Amino acid sequence: MDVGIIGGSGYGGGELARLLEHHPSFKLRTVAARTHAGQTLGAVFPNLAGSPSAGLQLVPADPAELDGCAVVFLATPRDASRELAPALLGAGAVVVDFSDAFRLDAAPLAAASAGAAYGLPELYRAHLAGARLVANPGCYPTAALLALAPAARLVEPASVSVVGMSGSSGAGRGLRDDLHASHAFGNVAAYGAPTHRHTPEIAAGWGALTGGAPPVTFTPHLVPMARGLVCTATATLTGSAAAVRAAYAEAYAGEPFVTLLPAGAWPASTHVAGGNGAHVGVAVDEAAGRVVASCAIDNLVKGAAGQALQCANALLGLDETAGLSATGLYP
Ligand SMILES: NC(=O)c1ccc[n+]([C@@H]2O[C@H](COP(=O)([O-])OP(=O)(O)OC[C@H]3O[C@@H](n4cnc5c(N)ncnc54)[C@H](OP(=O)(O)O)[C@@H]3O)[C@@H](O)[C@H]2O)c1
Repeated sequence: MDVGIIGGSGYGGGELARLLEHHPSFKLRTVAARTHAGQTLGAVFPNLAGSPSAGLQLVPADPAELDGCAVVFLATPRDASRELAPALLGAGAVVVDFSDAFRLDAAPLAAASAGAAYGLPELYRAHLAGARLVANPGCYPTAALLALAPAARLVEPASVSVVGMSGSSGAGRGLRDDLHASHAFGNVAAYGAPTHRHTPEIAAGWGALTGGAPPVTFTPHLVPMARGLVCTATATLTGSAAAVRAAYAEAYAGEPFVTLLPAGAWPASTHVAGGNGAHVGVAVDEAAGRVVASCAIDNLVKGAAGQALQCANALLGLDETAGLSATGLYP
């Protein structure tokens, strides 16, 4: 099946091109970009120099260039996704969008309305079958919701605080003052709290799981690494402490990409780098009466390109794991 990427010169799109190299059914036919159009994929991403796709020349981000692709991945900013998706859907493609253009309109909030789904398969797999537009979740919401979901019936919904930590690739390839090596290396800093653009998405996902509209305090931090993301959530325990680990074990039993770590072990970004895995750790702070749950993902894989591929597999009735591995690079 031919597939295409618009935004193929960005970090998310480039990671998807790398992952597609090992996909048994998808063939990367077209890669589109804006300022990088005309260059080859191998020139834009030196890590892909030896890949079969290295010689693909990036075309302009015009939906007509993607005609005939069964799936089009939009690894573009929100405004570009909003503009491009209708034409691609009209031409019969299935669209998986990396941006936040459609996330709050898609399931679980609107329960798979109008063929749109929120692409977090571990929580909303049933919504994916038959959808034509997938709003891939944000990287922070993916980790936050995987950390929190099994505790939905065991904690006070409005008591949740999530602390996030992300490497600089989470902000994309563009240059910014706070992403300069001289500022970002050897530095850890909170940013965007308490109104980061991912907060409404985390709160909406948590509300869908708990049946209300509880507020969530979300505090992201930029940490000095290229890729990787950890979200650690705490919430006041209302259920039995003994039920917590059992709830997590039950929720993630059989999930190919989510691993519940043994008691006492905590997720690390370096253990999931390059893979589509999410590692989850959980404990009860008996003294404080709070649950502590942490999830590590690679922001570019389970937080973006890998999850997009997982969703596309599900949409097209393929094995959800096709072309993907949960195993990270280490060290
Ligand atoms: N980075 C992450 O960890 C991550 C995780 C989850 C979701 N996301 C989301 O994924 C999307 C891409 O993120 P990224 O980090 O890959 O960004 P990026 O590195 O900045 O790449 C953006 C891509 O979009 C293209 N583009 C920009 N404006 C465009 C326009 N008006 N029309 C067509 N193409 C346009 C760029 O092309 P040129 O470079 O050729 O101009 C580039 O290929 C964003 O919506 C982001 O929020 C990112």
